[in-house]
Amino acid sequence: MAGRLTDKVAIVVGAGSSGPGWGNGKCTAVTFAREGAKVMCVDLKRAAAEETADLIAKVGGEAFAFEANSAKNADVKAMVDACLAKWGRIDVLDNNVGIGSTGGPVELTEDEWHLVFDVNVKSFFLTAKHVLPVMEKQGKGAIVNVSSIASIRSPKGVSYIAYNASKGAVNSLTLAIASQYAEKGIRCNAILPGLMHTPMIDFLAEQYAKNEKDHNQAYDKMIAIRNRASPTGKMGTGWDTANAALFLASDEAAYVNGHLLVVDGGITVRA
Ligand SMILES: NC(=O)c1ccc[n+]([C@@H]2O[C@H](COP(=O)([O-])OP(=O)(O)OC[C@H]3O[C@@H](n4cnc5c(N)ncnc54)[C@H](O)[C@@H]3O)[C@@H](O)[C@H]2O)c1
Repeated sequence: MAGRLTDKVAIVVGAGSSGPGWGNGKCTAVTFAREGAKVMCVDLKRAAAEETADLIAKVGGEAFAFEANSAKNADVKAMVDACLAKWGRIDVLDNNVGIGSTGGPVELTEDEWHLVFDVNVKSFFLTAKHVLPVMEKQGKGAIVNVSSIASIRSPKGVSYIAYNASKGAVNSLTLAIASQYAEKGIRCNAILPGLMHTPMIDFLAEQYAKNEKDHNQAYDKMIAIRNRASPTGKMGTGWDTANAALFLASDEAAYVNGHLLVVDGGITVRA
């Protein structure tokens, strides 16, 4: 199935990972490149963007790294200008950035709420704002927004209200763009990953374990809880998200528009 994105130019926003290993965006950038796309790897952290671009170059793919804060209008405009200057078009936009923040309405501060919404929602609005006119001129394009099953599910005992609400907003934004731009040849879909084992999760598990007496045991316990919570007995990986993104970005999904694709091993169908 190689070559599913041949001749396409893709921007992956959040193409690094928050620690060593493979995050959703890093896997997606590498997967797109393996399938023939030229990939602009965008991240808040230059080194993270460069690491992904280097990985692609090492296997003979074409990529370049770009540092940007996708929650800032000027950065997003500069990102689009840089992509057009280098490759002259944008076929795929993969919005992958996202941060979490724990707490319900009482515990969460107003500042934390704004930060989560800036990164998780405003970023997706801004990238769409600057990329859509380019895709409209081309008469074609595909946007893939990474949401979360947290947008449709809130398990007892776990509170992260801003994350839940922000990912719900990502779903609504996706559907609205899909409807508005369908007749212009532009598709917009979202992926709702479940419990994935990415560097962000390792970081959270480390945070949880750092004050425990037996650090390693506490870390393993946290990872085991997430594995057990999945009906498959194992968390998913960034590659599962990447493969879903590949399908939605490719012409195989030409008639798939406004879809919220759950990639969770079946958690959401369990009572
Ligand atoms: N890991 C999971 O279990 C899981 C589950 C559901 C959804 N998701 C979603 O998947 C996406 C990626 O998650 P991950 O686990 O791979 O995370 P990650 O933290 O490893 O990767 C995210 C990348 O985005 C970058 N980033 C953050 N804010 C940015 C900004 N303002 N501008 C540019 N880049 C920025 C980070 O530097 C990092 O490299 C997020 O949207 C997350 O909400 C993850």
